[in-house]
Amino acid sequence: MRIVFLGPQGVGKGTQGARLSERLSVPALSTGDMLRAEVRSGTELGLQADALMKAGELVSDAIMLGMIRTRVAQADAATGFILDGFPRTLAQAEGLDATLVSASAPLDVVVLFEAPRDVLESRLTGRRTCGDCGAVYHVLSQPSSREGVCDRCGGGLVQRADDTPEAIGRRLDLYERQTAPLADYYAARGLLVRVDGTRAVGEVRSDLLMAIGLGEVVS
Ligand code: AP5
Repeated sequence: MRIVFLGPQGVGKGTQGARLSERLSVPALSTGDMLRAEVRSGTELGLQADALMKAGELVSDAIMLGMIRTRVAQADAATGFILDGFPRTLAQAEGLDATLVSASAPLDVVVLFEAPRDVLESRLTGRRTCGDCGAVYHVLSQPSSREGVCDRCGGGLVQRADDTPEAIGRRLDLYERQTAPLADYYAARGLLVRVDGTRAVGEVRSDLLMAIGLGEVVS
């Protein structure tokens, strides 16, 4: 399945992407994670992206499209993928369509996760991420067993540089202006399904599976 996760920062796209990736055996491709890997490696792209990301700004459409075109062409994405954090602008959505149409591999579904701004803000300020494996926690709703230590790999948990109140406000404003209109773009193509992102992680997962046609009806 080829799936796009749409939704504001902090709504739980990364959290659900990791779980659905295991269930479907397809990669969850987070453009934020890809950019953070470039920053860690100190590449030219990473140096350019670092300041933009810390400030909550978007990296250019041309760079992001190039990155995604290369990534979805790799062998592990041949049977499908979950795109998390891409597209974020109309230009990215159109570029993605063109890429997938030329590969005769169009999107199957676009999932829009929804939650009000106060929920998003408290999720982002409490988020902690493993610096080694990228696992995501929350100090209140999803704490690690040992404070500051990743349950999965034992790595140290850190707060992301863009999870400051100023950068969070800027990212959520940008989402409303640049990315939220993509819901109409995909609805017009008959691809959009909506999931309530305010529920608990397991409930969101069940709703997601139902929304994409993989859920089990419990009688
Ligand atoms: P990116 O890494 O994509 O960050 P983001 O958009 O800010 O999204 P988040 O990762 O913050 O949100 P999420 O929905 O994945 O939430 P999560 O699951 O972690 O991008 C970073 C930057 O890279 C951008 O600002 C930009 O500069 C650049 N970039 C990336 N893609 C780009 C593109 N296409 N074009 C241009 N620039 C691009 O959950 C959040 C918290 O909530 C966690 O603590 C989690 O534990 C908790 N949580 C999750 N679900 C629940 C739940 N159901 N109940 C309670 N808590 C929950």
